Amino acid sequence: MKEKLKTSIQFTKNLFTTGAFKQTSRKVELEICSLLPKTGAQTIVEFGIGHGNITREILRTISPESRLIAFEVNPEFCEYVSEHIEDERLTIVNDGAENLRNYVEGSVHGVVSSLPLTLFPKELRKSILQTAYDALEPGAYYNQILYTRVHQKMLTSIFDECSVVRFINIPLEYVYHCRKLSKKS
Ligand SMILES: C[S@@+](CC[C@H](N)C(=O)[O-])C[C@H]1O[C@@H](n2cnc3c(N)ncnc32)[C@H](O)[C@@H]1O
Repeated sequence: MKEKLKTSIQFTKNLFTTGAFKQTSRKVELEICSLLPKTGAQTIVEFGIGHGNITREILRTISPESRLIAFEVNPEFCEYVSEHIEDERLTIVNDGAENLRNYVEGSVHGVVSSLPLTLFPKELRKSILQTAYDALEPGAYYNQILYTRVHQKMLTSIFDECSVVRFINIPLEYVYHCRKLSKKS
């Protein structure tokens, strides 16, 4: 409880980059990780770690041979997570999701994003989603939490398949599972 309050205070202080007053609900943490690969040596990417609640769930979900590369722009959040989560599979990158390709070569087998896309300029939003699409292995999912459906059109225009699960919380939470089916020529 004390930790949750601490997280809410930090999120509120940084509202223009977090876009949220509190961390994602437990049900959403489970849903957003539900389509990640659970076996094999996979490369998973997280965008926007905050205090690491989803990071923990990703690490619980993926195999011991997999790795998780987690992007976060706020250095205090990076420090918090590196102090609180000890796991050799985790690499924290203190940089924006838009710079994915500066850090991750080769195919990505799943992306989990809680980026506040609504706060981003349209071009940045599009470029992050397109970069993630291009990096994904065919068959893999980009999973995104949002508090609105306004970006559904952009998601469906970039990804080959999109489904959405709605959670009735305050605020409403939507988890998008967007899939890349094959390489576009
Ligand atoms: C809504 S919070 C989500 C935090 C946590 N994962 C959760 O679900 O509660 C969004 C996070 O994205 C981070 N963020 C904002 N812009 C970013 C960017 N361009 N690249 C990576 N992280 C970013 C914020 O600092 C914040 O930690």
